Amino acid sequence: MSDELSREAAAPAAAEPALLRPVRRLGPVADLRFGLYAEVLKDVVADALITDPPYSARTHTGQRSLSRRAGELVVGGIDYQSLSEPDVHALVELFAPRTRRWWVMFGDHLTTAWALEHLARAFDWYTFPPITWEKTDAAPRFCADGPSPSKEWIAVARPRRKMREGERRYRTGCYRGPSRTSCREPGFVGQKPEWLMRAIVRDYSEPGDLVVDPFAGRGTTLVAARAEGRASIGAECDLRSYESARARLGRSYTPLLLQ
Ligand SMILES: C[S@@+](CC[C@H](N)C(=O)[O-])C[C@H]1O[C@@H](n2cnc3c(N)ncnc32)[C@H](O)[C@@H]1O
Repeated sequence: MSDELSREAAAPAAAEPALLRPVRRLGPVADLRFGLYAEVLKDVVADALITDPPYSARTHTGQRSLSRRAGELVVGGIDYQSLSEPDVHALVELFAPRTRRWWVMFGDHLTTAWALEHLARAFDWYTFPPITWEKTDAAPRFCADGPSPSKEWIAVARPRRKMREGERRYRTGCYRGPSRTSCREPGFVGQKPEWLMRAIVRDYSEPGDLVVDPFAGRGTTLVAARAEGRASIGAECDLRSYESARARLGRSYTPLLLQ
């Protein structure tokens, strides 16, 4: 056995925070809470964190665009706050002790590095080189100030604990497919396609697991988890996105899932 593997086998199960009630074998129900994740998800222990947070200021400012509408200059681009390094560390500090199996986080070159480094150094998690989603319909940005990326990065890590039966299996290192979504409403930047989130949910959780998404947006992770037979819980602090996600979840929305 390699040193790493024997360390893993010998590692005690990470202590879970007291007062939290992990709920198992829930079936495909979803709970979405309105507010800042750090305030509304403190009571959650999940099997997998699968999330798509804001990216760093570098990416957010790089995506800013200017257009003229009815003679007025309009600033377009990402309309929610970017994440700083301390923001990413705060996310890791809240959820590393509350995530049993997998950390799967979209990000840019900075936010993925900040998360992986903090998970490895402060929590001794196994980290992996970021995997990617290659967009088969990526549009080139002719006026960008650097290369036009057609891929998104996804940081993957897991705590040093024994894997479950059957959990050591093939997982793709690159998802490939279109970025278009079924959303017809303007103004939701960064929504992920359902096929992608379903593939990630299948790769990083098992049926009956609880998936948490602290940055739910229009709720694609929760919709995907439901479709794959997982329970899910999320937070969203923007009212319009929260209401849109609630409408998408429809009847499977189950408030107070964990109480
Ligand atoms: C990239 S979007 C998520 C999109 C989502 N994956 C989807 O497919 O709809 C990131 C979301 O995080 C939300 N957000 C940012 N900071 C937050 C926080 N501290 N707590 C909860 N939500 C937050 C933003 O309002 C935004 O909707």
